[in-house]
Amino acid sequence: MSVNHGANLYDLSGKYGFSKDEFLDFSSNINPFGTSSLAKEYIIKNIDMVSVYPDVEYKDLKKSISSYCKCYEKNMVLGSGATELISSFISTIKPKKAVLLSPAYSEYEKELKKNNCEIIKYFSKEDNHFRIDPVELIDFINENKSDLIIICNPNNPTGFTFSKYEIEVILNNTNAFVMVDETYIEFTNTDIYSSTPLVDKYDNLFVIRGTSKFFSTPGIRLGYGLIGKEEVRNKINENLDLWNINIIASAMGEIMFTDKEYICRCIDIILKERDYLLESLSKFNDFQVFESKGNFILCKINSKKITASNLRELLIPKKIIIRDCKSFEGLDEYYFRVCVLKPENNKYLIDCLKEIFV
Ligand SMILES: Cc1ncc(COP(=O)(O)O)c(C=O)c1O
Repeated sequence: MSVNHGANLYDLSGKYGFSKDEFLDFSSNINPFGTSSLAKEYIIKNIDMVSVYPDVEYKDLKKSISSYCKCYEKNMVLGSGATELISSFISTIKPKKAVLLSPAYSEYEKELKKNNCEIIKYFSKEDNHFRIDPVELIDFINENKSDLIIICNPNNPTGFTFSKYEIEVILNNTNAFVMVDETYIEFTNTDIYSSTPLVDKYDNLFVIRGTSKFFSTPGIRLGYGLIGKEEVRNKINENLDLWNINIIASAMGEIMFTDKEYICRCIDIILKERDYLLESLSKFNDFQVFESKGNFILCKINSKKITASNLRELLIPKKIIIRDCKSFEGLDEYYFRVCVLKPENNKYLIDCLKEIFV
């Protein structure tokens, strides 16, 4: 199992003697308000469904996703989390040469390596606040004759996000397949930033989404992808196992995508709290803070008083876990990432940081 992720709460609770639930996990980027109560209540009342196989075609689930992201059911593939779709897409198209934006989520590189793909890194720069110019990126893709570009949008961990129009410029000016991981897209204005409307128009686009982060359901492993190119879509489906979405994930998906009250409430509070954290963290003389469109914020301990790893250790006795970002290529030992939790928890984090950086 890969270790370059957010906190392993199972491990930490054993090591520090706290129960898993006692930790304030600022490292895993999961919506702190839990999942849709409509979906939860449905599962509790209908738990006997576990004795039945799921619909092999997942018709109701696909219908629900289709109205949620205004896309055609015919373009959809379903996966056990975004993770399964990342790996099955890469092993289906078997790219020879891929451009990877760095720093970014580590699983792309792992999957490309498994498929013996040559990887060319395009580093976004701290001096430029980790923003990426699409025109420079296009030149880089074309100069390297790459057949795949992977974009995490918003990008974990930097928070940089391409607009839909910038993604369209990339699609129009390269021959590469473009894979866009929209795991954190709900935390943006989707009309501006989501590429799902481009799927019907471009054959070389695969958009992946998951439910782990925004819908707070990493335990059910539900993801979906949208791809217009029939030949690739069929091959991905052939490579996926029958019934790869379990019946709880399928039933929850049918309901939570339609729970408008829950969706609007979460977006509203999380975006306000992101502003609070951005503003409060920026007030520390010791930190450089990077603007983010995700539900997480990348910071650098610019004063170099302590490393991110030291900071993480100092916060654990206070039951706070942050992400030390040293393992991200392109970042160093002074970078850390925190995600947005509930208002009282965010305030507590800031108070604890004030005690450390007096
Ligand atoms: C950018 C990104 N994509 C995908 C995943 C994995 O998502 P899932 O739980 O849907 O497999 C993560 C998890 O941290 C992530 O940060």
